[in-house]
Amino acid sequence: MIQFFQVSKRYPGGQTALDRVSFDIARGQFVFLTGASGAGKTSLLRLIFREDVPSEGQILVNGRNVSSIPPQKIPYLRRTIGVVFQDFRLISRKTVFENVTYLPRILGTDLTSQKKLAYQALRRVGLAHRLNAFPLELSGGEQQRVAIARALIHEPEILIADEPTGNLDPELSWDILRLFLEVNLRGTTVLLATHDREMIQRVGRRVLTLDAGRLILDQELQGIDPPRLEAPAEALEPPGPPVLEAAPEAGA
Ligand SMILES: Nc1ncnc2c1ncn2[C@@H]1O[C@H](COP(=O)(O)OP(=O)(O)OP(=O)(O)O)[C@@H](O)[C@H]1O
Ligand SMILES: [Mg+2]
Repeated sequence: MIQFFQVSKRYPGGQTALDRVSFDIARGQFVFLTGASGAGKTSLLRLIFREDVPSEGQILVNGRNVSSIPPQKIPYLRRTIGVVFQDFRLISRKTVFENVTYLPRILGTDLTSQKKLAYQALRRVGLAHRLNAFPLELSGGEQQRVAIARALIHEPEILIADEPTGNLDPELSWDILRLFLEVNLRGTTVLLATHDREMIQRVGRRVLTLDAGRLILDQELQGIDPPRLEAPAEALEPPGPPVLEAAPEAGA
């Protein structure tokens, strides 16, 4: 599903961020990407969703060479790949609804469908009732859940997260990690970058370790205290009527 063949990334100025990295992530896997600061985690992730292109080597996502996707087709790639960042990247003067429907709007989805998609995505993260709030009216954990809903809005096949818990306290981090594990349980392939070794050891799973741009370890870890995932996230929310009529016009 995500294949790297001898991928290198050098930035202008000669900085080598990735050095002949090869791996293969199968559909449905949950994979941690770890390594010290500057090891190349963000550089690697950015290549997968085509925020950047490799200097050498090839990257296939679903068998497609991502480097050869023309720029105008990139929003379609982002339908397949949801991305969550450490700093959330929500637009503060837009509501939760407007934030999570960013991609459907770009893709020209009609407003009725946008509302339906937003409701479904927010329900998965337990925030369907905050559709009209502004990001700054939410806690850090809630903002991160909105960012996850935005990434999930098109039910992407792949969810990529770059230090999604880096700015959260340990308890919230754990909640967010659970959410990723539940998303994975529903079949989404998850690749999550973190340098939180404690979290990785607790949960287990496949772990890719980068060191100065080289993939030095690809291991399957047994978790020492993995969370019990009772049900997919959707089933955890009590059923309720959609509260869509309150959603504002999407603006632009
Ligand atoms: N846009 C850029 N231009 C030049 N060098 C860069 C750029 N982005 C990253 N680098 C360099 O590439 C290397 C890898 O950086 P990267 O951001 O991928 O590391 P990281 O593992 O994500 O680190 P952190 O844990 O601090 O987020 C670093 O040496 C960094 O300075
Ligand atoms: Mg980084």
